[in-house]
Formats: sequence, structure tokens, C-alpha cells
Amino acid sequence: MRLLFATAELRPLASAGGLGEAAAGLTAALAAHPEVQVITVLPDYRRWPLEDVQQLDLDVPEWAAPASVRLGHHADAGLLALVDVPGIERPDPYVDTDGNGWGDNDQRFGAFSMAVAALAHRLDVDLVHLNDWHTALVPAFLADAIPSVLTIHNLAHQGWADPSWIHRLPTHRDAYEWGNAVNGLAGAIATVDRVVTVSPHYAREIVTAEGGMGLHLRLADRGEDLVGILNGIDTRAWNPELDPHVPPYTPTDLTGKATARAALLDHCGWTDLGDPLVVLVTRLVEQKGVDYAFEAARFLDGMRTRMIVLGSGERRLADWARWLVGEHPDRFWFHDGYDGPLSHLLFAGGDLLLMPSRFEPCGLAQMQAMAYGTVPVVTPVGGLLDTVIDADARPDGNGFVASALDESGVVDALHRGLRGVRHGGRRRALQRRGMTHDWSWTEPAARYVELYDSVLARRQS
Ligand code: GLC
Repeated sequence: MRLLFATAELRPLASAGGLGEAAAGLTAALAAHPEVQVITVLPDYRRWPLEDVQQLDLDVPEWAAPASVRLGHHADAGLLALVDVPGIERPDPYVDTDGNGWGDNDQRFGAFSMAVAALAHRLDVDLVHLNDWHTALVPAFLADAIPSVLTIHNLAHQGWADPSWIHRLPTHRDAYEWGNAVNGLAGAIATVDRVVTVSPHYAREIVTAEGGMGLHLRLADRGEDLVGILNGIDTRAWNPELDPHVPPYTPTDLTGKATARAALLDHCGWTDLGDPLVVLVTRLVEQKGVDYAFEAARFLDGMRTRMIVLGSGERRLADWARWLVGEHPDRFWFHDGYDGPLSHLLFAGGDLLLMPSRFEPCGLAQMQAMAYGTVPVVTPVGGLLDTVIDADARPDGNGFVASALDESGVVDALHRGLRGVRHGGRRRALQRRGMTHDWSWTEPAARYVELYDSVLARRQS
């Protein structure tokens, strides 16, 4: 089967968050699958070098022209199709240096989507796999000629565009018209062959008024065509035995983890008080509930713990974190920004990972943490519920799940987590369960291939 996988992000080339990480892991696992030939199509934001390049000019309407593609091999990312459309080349996929969205994002990703559809025809692929709003207009341009699957990584971003866009859509206008505007995701949800979201729990949350962000009825309409497939993590990049950024260690010999912990303390400029280290590796946005963590920071002294935060995002939250550093210099540490190697050191050197999300389609950090023997403390939402089992509730627990989605729920779970890792025997059992579980993309990729097969079978009948 020839598959065109369309994404706006792909680590290590372009990665603003979970989408880039998930796309890298899934496409690598699909490429290893004997039944699939996968071509990943990505906007050519920064003219990345490719090998064995073939240049294709695409036939697109005037508003998206000129559109061309460089098809070739990339050392890290495999077979890539890099799309050039007007305005797509930018230092960052979505935002300017002040963090404001580029004013022409609907135009840029609309033209990208048009090019993806044209490329799907040109390469004569069997199926197109779309991801998030950036590719949501593709089904309107494919006009049902080629089957498609959409993965929703985050329903909060829907790809709203002004009503003039309707006239650019050759088919399915009714599906995309939403109030007085165009809603890309709303249209794609109604028109693709199958809708996938990144965990079973999130699949159930998004068909409710509470979790559906305005699209719950449209999602519910898809019935059994909406499924949850839990993300994996990219075990090429996230494996403490092979990770070049940390001292190597295994579930049976955690010496390297202790060394990483010492290196992390050193990095923070701290001496070891024997207190557990709570790490957060996160975007600083409302969704991630970092404000719950920051509220809890006032108890750090009493709890005898320390909090280490790595992340970038909203200025308000970054300012709050800086203020906390001033208040608790010996207990709270903050690095404003995204730093790949440092994030590996946090996952390896931490004792607990705190992830107090308000909603979480899947979440990758909790799985990365468990793979590194760092015990997750999470809120009871989305993919966190599919991956973290509360160790106070069940003997096979691997972490701690707050009983309520509010500050006291988070503080209580953090207390329980601290108790869990203070006792050596219990901590090692929790660590072993997290580290020996298979979090890789192998199983999820197999589930996607089954889904592709079922789409093709249904189309044929
Ligand atoms: C988004 C979601 C996150 C998910 C990731 C990859 O970033 O917020 O929960 O893990 O996409 O699918």
C-alpha cells in the first residue's frame, strides 16, 4: 500500500510540540511495516537538504500557485516530499519572533493542503493520512477520489478561516461551512473515511459537550468511524540504554539514573538535600495546567521536594515561573525555552514527572518519563488515563492519578507520589513497571495499518 502521510510538523526538522514527535515516531514505524510504503509530506519551511532529489511541479489553482515538491531522502526522516507554496518558507512553522501567529497561516496551510491533494493524485497513492487542522481542507480537494484518514492530535485548534474560502473548495462545501465561517476540522471530520484520535479516552471525551470544543455532535455522528489509537513514543530517541544525552541505564541497573540525577542537580546549581525532584517538561499553556503546578509550588518547603521546569509558551506563565525562582531559589528552577538534550536530562534525572493537564489528547511526556524510570503524577484526563495506573488504587500501578481535576486534586496526587518514591522498594517497583512496558510505536502502527486496510476494503466493496 502506498501511503501519503501529511503533517505540518516532523521532528527533528520542524517540531513545535507533540505533533512533530508523534509524526516522527509513527512514520518511522510505518516505514518498517512490510505492507506499507510511506511518503511523508511536509511544508518546506526551511529548504532542508535532501538526497536523490526529484522536483515535481504541481497543477493547482491560481490561489495556491506556484506549487512544487522536492521528493527525496532525508537522513533522519526517510522518504520526504517537501512542499513549496507561496509564503510557506518561514523560520518557524506558525509564529513570528514575538510568538504571534503569522497573519497568513490559513492561506499558507490552505495552499499546502491543496498541494497535498495534487501530490496524492500525481503519486497515485492508495490512501492519504491527514493530521490536525493544517491538512483539514485536503478532503475537499481530493473530491473522494482517494480515501483519507484524519488523526486529531488536539481539538483546540480547528483551522477557522473566513467565509471566502468556501469558494475555493471544489467539493463538500456544506461540511466545511460552520456558522459564518469555514471550519477545517469540522469539514474533515465529516468527509474523511475514518477519524482517529490519539487515545481511547480522548475519543470518548470529544463526543461530549464538555470535551468536544463545539464539534461533539459532528464527531458523534461518525459513530464507529471514530476510533482512539493510543500514541507510542519514538524508542529510537527515547531509550535510556541508548540515549547519547544521559548516562546509560537499564531497569535492572539504575546507576546511570543516579548519575543523571546528580548531573541535573548540578545543572540547577543545587546540592543534594535528598529531596525528590519533580520535573515538568511542557509547553507553558493553559491546556497543560502548569498553573496547578505553580500554585502547588508554595508547598515545596513543607513537602520537602524541588520542582524543575523546562518549557516555553505564554509570557504570563513564564513570568510566574521566574517569580517562583526568586521566591524559592533553592526549590524551584526554570528554563524558559525548549532544549532537546536538557529535556532528556530531566526525564532521566527526575524522580517524579508532574503533568497536571486540563485536557490531554494523549500526552507523550508521561510515557517518556516512565521509559526513563521517572514516576508520573497526572490529572484524570484523556490519554493520561490510558497510560498511567494509580499505584494507590491498583497493585499493578505505575504512577499517580489525581482524583479530581483541580488544584487540591493535583496537590493530593503529588503528596501521594512523593510518598511513593521515598520508599526505595516501592519506588523501584514503580520504576520497573514503567521501564519494562512496551511504549513503542510498533503496536499503534499495526493498528493504523489495520485501519488503512479496513478503509480500502470498504471502498472496494
Ligand atoms: C498534541 C496533544 C498531545 C498529543 C500530541 C501527539 O500535542 O496535545 O496530547 O500527545 O498532540 O499526538
